[in-house]
Amino acid sequence: MFTTPELEAIRKDFPILFRTLADDRHLIYLDNAASTQKPKPVLQTFQKFSESSYANIHRGVYRLSLEATEAYDQARKTIANFIKAKSEVEIVFTRNATEAINLVAYGFARKYFHPGDEIVLTELEHHANLVPWQQVCQATGAKIVAIPFEPDGSIDVEKVIAAFSARTKMLAITGCSNVFGTIIPLKSIISAAKQQRIVVLVDGAQLVPHYPINVQELECDFLVASGHKMLAPSGIGFLYGRREWLALMDPMLYGGDMINEVWIDRATWAEIPNKFEAGTPNIEGAVALGKAAEYLQHIGLMRIHQHSEALANYAASALQQLPNTRVLGSSNRSGIVTFLCTDVHPHDLASFLDAEGIAIRAGHHCTQPLHRKLGVPATARASFYLYNTQDEAERLIEAVEKAIHFFSGKKVFFGQPPVLKET
Ligand SMILES: Cc1ncc(COP(=O)(O)O)c(C=O)c1O
Repeated sequence: MFTTPELEAIRKDFPILFRTLADDRHLIYLDNAASTQKPKPVLQTFQKFSESSYANIHRGVYRLSLEATEAYDQARKTIANFIKAKSEVEIVFTRNATEAINLVAYGFARKYFHPGDEIVLTELEHHANLVPWQQVCQATGAKIVAIPFEPDGSIDVEKVIAAFSARTKMLAITGCSNVFGTIIPLKSIISAAKQQRIVVLVDGAQLVPHYPINVQELECDFLVASGHKMLAPSGIGFLYGRREWLALMDPMLYGGDMINEVWIDRATWAEIPNKFEAGTPNIEGAVALGKAAEYLQHIGLMRIHQHSEALANYAASALQQLPNTRVLGSSNRSGIVTFLCTDVHPHDLASFLDAEGIAIRAGHHCTQPLHRKLGVPATARASFYLYNTQDEAERLIEAVEKAIHFFSGKKVFFGQPPVLKET
């Protein structure tokens, strides 16, 4: 974990953490798996760029436009370095991870998949890494093969490998579950996939903010991430794609900036990555994302991971001691702890905690198949990040305990603690 002085220094960078709520208490922000907060260097970069260097990119020959283009291109280089891509042309800026997955689904899968081809994924997937593949299947006749998760929230590597067949075209797999926090052993899964020439997409929305990534060592073909989960503004994310695949892929959006030559009846496309970035992109978002990546690198992703995981583990074991409370998952939990209190609906719990100044998430977390398997429509999720403290974790436990006492006997939502059942 970070030392107290380190943590104090980090927290000073995040103005929102000093926001006082109605009863003069500081906000306790534990919804980092949904979106993270922004540190001053990112806010300042955004503001300074907007105040002094903003213009549209790639179009002007005047100084401001050149400066803006340079800053945007530099952000691409920073992201390439952040995930150790071979070249910055392998980074496509998108709105978010969802758009990046859709881009691969449209530009790659729809083009190359045939009836009977198989897409292997897991039952842990966020809807963002499931629904686009369902659409691919509808359009091409391919089919989804879903690997079940284990009762502790992990994925059995052998089960994934056993699912690979001559028909498997793609493995689309999360790097870290947004419900259990489980970090998936990608390396062994991907090397088995590569032996069978299966194309691999990693949903890094939860992994990239918490873990150092080297796409060349990992050998994945595609990796996606969202800026708003890694200290950057919303509306910016990226797709990493191996150069050879990006070159073969079709664009998803057409128009300005993505073309080479245009005639009245036809057009040719720009080189990668520009051919995937039609229209004016989120220029200041990309520049701020570059700064966020530098900030995370400066602090150290492994240390961020260890800090968040230690807090989540502490919260998990303390929550487990509370009456009628069940913590989901156990193998490893990144910064996430998802739980259920038998006597309190997760939405009631989240509202109760809100009155205590604590922000957590309640719902299905965009994983309805996973929740269906758990046999519950919703769960409560607290997610920790680099700026959270042990004291905040303790306040969470106290507040959950208070909620349990408050609701106890008033309304029984779940009856019995849920058990895993087959979908
Ligand atoms: C694992 C995972 N994948 C994908 C997404 C989608 O991210 P976005 O909404 O930023 O596209 C999320 C968001 O919660 C996620 O947790």
